[in-house]
Amino acid sequence: MSCPALPEGFDFTDPDIYQQRLPFPEFAQLRQTDRVWWIPQPHGVAGFDDDGYWAVTRHADVKEVSTKPEIFSSHLNTAIIRFNEHIHRDQIDVQKLIMLNMDPPEHTRVRQIVQRGFTPRAIRALEDALRERATRIVAGAKEDGSGDFVTDVACELPLQAIAELIGVPQQDRSKIFDWSNKMVAYDDPELAITEEIGAESAMELISYAMNLAADRKACPAKDIVSQLVAAEDQGNLASDEFGFFVLLLAVAGNETTRNAISHGMHAFLTHPDQWELFKRERPASAADEIVRWATPVMSFQRTATQDTELGGQRIAAGQRVGIFYSSANHDPEVFDRPEDFDITRDPNPHLGFGGGGPHFCLGKSLAELEIRLIFNAIADAMPDVRLAGDPRRLRSPWLNGIKELQVNYG
Ligand code: HEM
Repeated sequence: MSCPALPEGFDFTDPDIYQQRLPFPEFAQLRQTDRVWWIPQPHGVAGFDDDGYWAVTRHADVKEVSTKPEIFSSHLNTAIIRFNEHIHRDQIDVQKLIMLNMDPPEHTRVRQIVQRGFTPRAIRALEDALRERATRIVAGAKEDGSGDFVTDVACELPLQAIAELIGVPQQDRSKIFDWSNKMVAYDDPELAITEEIGAESAMELISYAMNLAADRKACPAKDIVSQLVAAEDQGNLASDEFGFFVLLLAVAGNETTRNAISHGMHAFLTHPDQWELFKRERPASAADEIVRWATPVMSFQRTATQDTELGGQRIAAGQRVGIFYSSANHDPEVFDRPEDFDITRDPNPHLGFGGGGPHFCLGKSLAELEIRLIFNAIADAMPDVRLAGDPRRLRSPWLNGIKELQVNYG
């Protein structure tokens, strides 16, 4: 198995290829030719017997893999396909405690419990507090005149939203934010944060969340934690399950939304006609287009549980399958002019929140609310915001991230 049309040694899990640009030309090549490609990884991946993975790049195929958990399991090696030096067996075992890495029926049980915290009513209840936060964040940035949009604006709202959702008291929020930020930054070589600090922060966050759960079990309040851990008659989460759930939220809901907001700002500033349109009409479709355009989570991975066929290729039991949302979201079979940033795009069946299977993003409505609120606040308070430099990208094969975006707040 080889892929002659791609450059020698090309591997979508290599973080270095994402520092300059996303591999859209390569994805386009893959989509146009064979439907599913074998990408060799000559050095193998620790804990796995194979020496490569299947790259799934078409919209329809990404959906098919996502919706068949009995064939394409989330149980082995989880989310990120990346080079082995980062992944060890014991890490994989710990990751199995996170719902993202569970298969039905175990996943179904946990999902049914936690989705009680994400009903439309629960999300609506956060709107006023988050609107007020968004207004304050934007006013603070405006006072500074100019600066890094990522740290000044994009970082805070996603963390505040998670803290509001699970009812973290104000005085504890800076601790939670610090742990969350250390966890998501630990494999960034440009930051002086090591893998150990990332792991320590994860442990501290889990233990904080377990204590919060224990408190609420003993003394229920009117918040989501109490609902998830104390609703004995409707099933509940054990304190450690709650701890791992909060850990997942801190990763899944934090940097994803931060990057959607940063990319959204960059997209608006480089497409002034769309910014003018947004300021005038505030179309609800803008949030979805930002997520399609940016695709903050670029890929996930599944493992075949049995010999199967996908896109005309035979996939053997135990082989890994990478699903590339960033490619699916530019598939011309589904999107007209996929390279255009068009905030009125409708319908917009993008796969930025997943391919519609059991793991479909639990926080979609919350993320969309945050995106809407922050851009409304920006349009109201700093309509003349301008770009003041090229964005600095995150070195990651998994998250499409912006680390720094200098802007003049107008
Ligand atoms: C799962 C993307 C925001 C919580 C996912 C998945 C993707 C995704 C691609 C996996 C879907 C699959 O495997 O089918 C995003 C993007 C976001 C975002 C692009 C922001 C723009 C959030 C927020 C939260 C959240 C704000 C919560 C605060 C979760 C959880 C899961 C998940 C808990 C796992 C669901 C499960 O395993 O059943 N997200 N997400 N996400 N997301 Fe999000």
